[in-house]
Amino acid sequence: MPDQMAVSGSQRDLDLLNGAPSQRDADLMDIVSGLKARQKTLPTRLFYDEAGCELFRRITMLPEYHVTRAETALLDLHRDEITADVAHDTSLVEYGASDERKGVALIDAAPDAITTYVPIDIAGPALAALAARLETSHPTLRVQPVEADFTGPVSLPAAGGGGRLGFFPGSTIGNFDPPLVRRFLEQARSDLADGVRDAPVRFLIGTDLFRDRSELIPAYDDAAGVTAQFNKNILRHVNRITGAAFDTARFNHRAVWNQQAGRIEMHLVSTVAQVVEVAGHGVAFARGETIHTESSYKHTREGFTALANQAGWRAERFWTDPDGFFGLHGLLAA
Ligand code: AVI
Repeated sequence: MPDQMAVSGSQRDLDLLNGAPSQRDADLMDIVSGLKARQKTLPTRLFYDEAGCELFRRITMLPEYHVTRAETALLDLHRDEITADVAHDTSLVEYGASDERKGVALIDAAPDAITTYVPIDIAGPALAALAARLETSHPTLRVQPVEADFTGPVSLPAAGGGGRLGFFPGSTIGNFDPPLVRRFLEQARSDLADGVRDAPVRFLIGTDLFRDRSELIPAYDDAAGVTAQFNKNILRHVNRITGAAFDTARFNHRAVWNQQAGRIEMHLVSTVAQVVEVAGHGVAFARGETIHTESSYKHTREGFTALANQAGWRAERFWTDPDGFFGLHGLLAA
């Protein structure tokens, strides 16, 4: 799951013991409060049920969606440079590691330096499958999966003598609003540095870059309609959680560029005036009214560096493609 803002199974169990709301209760609360707001919203994390993950996988292969291709090409081209400063016995800590492909590109570039791989994800079964695959393909690599919601503190396994290299690919950070970006970067800095003495703490983050609207809109409104299906699928997920009866045929997909905020927004547009019962609340839609389902921020190199600086990171390296579509930011804990 690329975009992870929910609470993991084990954390959920702990929360239940402590009397905290279950994940379903938290989802219900967020759904109802989002749909009661003036600009209706839904939590972006609800895109990623099983069908949503499959649709996202198809998005990453669309000709219009450059993000995954651009990042993979950059990692392939620069992996030796990216890993050149990695000290012996470093832990690679990947945020949102639903599969190991990008992490392995770095590990294979520096197998003597990166001795431990710590994939963090909310989806326990996906982590277990990843660990099993690596046991076969990389038998000498220490794999220490952490099932957690990384928008909060994450307790990491002890680091080796080479310190830690954090890795947050995919421009998933682009789905965070700027205050959350700052909180996340501060938290990650503290978690990655925890227990590390006399060794570097670095962070490699992939972000989609700011550019012309005409190039960005098709990536979020593709000709084959896969992104539209992905967007509408959130209503099916909401129906399952709440027992509501959203009819996806009564909503259209819309992608808009919000120039002031520097983000693509995905909306679901109600094609008729309608009232939908959601967990005992009648949610009224005027014809043309929208639910804002996702923001995808496009950062400039300078803007992202400023956010990172505020969170205690120093920009050390930057890699981009010739078109300037995608950026890989190499940060060092200040
Ligand atoms: C996961 N994330 C980086 C994607 C993005 O580009 O914001 C999610 C996505 N939404 C529509 N297409 C892809």
